[in-house]
Amino acid sequence: MRRPLPLSAAAASQALPLFLLLLFFSAADAHNITRILAKHPEFSTFNHYLTITHLAGEINRRLTITVLALDNSAMSALLDKHFSVGTIKNVLSLHVLVDYYGAKKLHQLSKGTTLSSTLFQATGSATGTSGYVNITNLKGGKVGFGSEDNGGDLNSFYVKSVVEMPYNISILQISKVITSADAEAPTAAPVSLNLTEVLPKQGCKAFSDLLIAAGAIETYQSNVDGGLTMFCPTEDALNAFLPKYKNLTAAHKVSLLLYHGMPIYLSLQMLKSNNGVVNTLATDGGAKYDFVIKTDGEDVTVKTKVVTATVTATLIDSEPLIVYEVDKVLQPKELFKAVPEENDEAPAPKSSPKKKTKAPSPKASDGEVAEDADSPIGSDESDGEPEDQTADKNGAFGSNGQRSIVAMMLSLWFAVLLV
Ligand SMILES: *[C@@H]1O[C@H](CO)[C@@H](O)[C@H](O)[C@H]1NC(C)=O
Ligand SMILES: *[C@@H]1O[C@H](CO)[C@@H](O)[C@H](O)[C@H]1NC(C)=O
Ligand SMILES: *[C@@H]1O[C@H](CO)[C@@H](O)[C@H](O)[C@H]1NC(C)=O
Ligand SMILES: *[C@@H]1O[C@H](CO)[C@@H](O)[C@H](O)[C@H]1NC(C)=O
Ligand SMILES: *[C@@H]1O[C@H](CO)[C@@H](O)[C@H](O)[C@H]1NC(C)=O
Repeated sequence: MRRPLPLSAAAASQALPLFLLLLFFSAADAHNITRILAKHPEFSTFNHYLTITHLAGEINRRLTITVLALDNSAMSALLDKHFSVGTIKNVLSLHVLVDYYGAKKLHQLSKGTTLSSTLFQATGSATGTSGYVNITNLKGGKVGFGSEDNGGDLNSFYVKSVVEMPYNISILQISKVITSADAEAPTAAPVSLNLTEVLPKQGCKAFSDLLIAAGAIETYQSNVDGGLTMFCPTEDALNAFLPKYKNLTAAHKVSLLLYHGMPIYLSLQMLKSNNGVVNTLATDGGAKYDFVIKTDGEDVTVKTKVVTATVTATLIDSEPLIVYEVDKVLQPKELFKAVPEENDEAPAPKSSPKKKTKAPSPKASDGEVAEDADSPIGSDESDGEPEDQTADKNGAFGSNGQRSIVAMMLSLWFAVLLV
């Protein structure tokens, strides 16, 4: 069964008003590594691998970035090693510096040497500081590059500047692959991420035991490849909740457990910039099982109508899977008594002197004919809509293409915020 995309129209309209759509186009204009390199056929292999490793998207959504490009012969030396795509991704991500180096700056490093962080470091795939690249000005105008874990050996050299768009993106050709034992280490292919194995190892044992016992792990597992965000309650939070949990029927246990997942990958940055109502794996037609994500200063909170939990850690971030730790079990209002809101948000109706009459709904009489035409990425799953129709709309909405467009737009939106 297809799962609805968890962004409801409410969240979407908050996240993507029209002006952001306009910005989206200018951000897309800022740079597209695939398109830039397409004009330079000597980098076609490198370009191809940026695409299949999804590094191209990561590069496009960042500003102030330097790509150390490898020509086709340098790439064939890399491909001769028969690495998995995951390993090639790590190696190439070491070639993307998260700082801007034009040719001029490169040849005039203060102190003649520097360390630059890379995407390999930034994505957390590197061990220790192995994701840093040492750049050093050498005799005769040469510039050497070496990874931090290469024993001080600068094994690759600057060749030429390919494209410079200060200070968005710079593409510099270097002579060969920067050697790094850590980046070249075998990686588990992301498709083989097995939640049963990975969750207990990454600090989510108690919750994963419950998922297995209740038979909910399969639903989570089936969502991994398409993108999955999980909220894993701490062991203490689960222990405190256990008496209430035991009281639930088997079906409600499953619903409660599925309530802790969203069928989309949302990085912490995306969560922060993406406040609003989201659906969960437990959402099923009329049974909403949704909650509100809210940024509160540095914290991200998950508010159900029953509890407010805080994200306390990121346990796993390996796109398409991300697992956050939360300090409370998320209790849906469908299963537990809602706590009346005290202060924030909705203005208290009683404080209003005039008695509000319910505004007539614009689509009250026409049923489903009147749709929210101005909703940017889809319509809300309204109450009272026939279930199969809801499923249809969600099906179209949740198709991979749409999903990635939404994800891309959200990422670009975030890139725009960084400008
Ligand atoms: C970048 O350019 C390539 C090739 O022209 C195109 O297929 C791709 O959709 C573009 N990506 C973005 C984000 O615009
Ligand atoms: C970079 O490597 C060179 C050669 O091993 C070394 O002399 C230099 O101190 C390193 N630079 C930094 C910033 O660590
Ligand atoms: C850098 O990106 C901004 C928008 O993101 C754009 O306005 C600017 O023209 C770009 N700079 C260059 C040199 O392309
Ligand atoms: C995940 O690992 C468990 C335990 O090793 C195994 O029983 C299960 O079949 C695996 N599931 C998948 C989907 O590979
Ligand atoms: C479990 O259910 C019983 C009967 O409905 C109720 O009396 C009891 O308070 C519940 N226990 C908890 C911990 O919710």
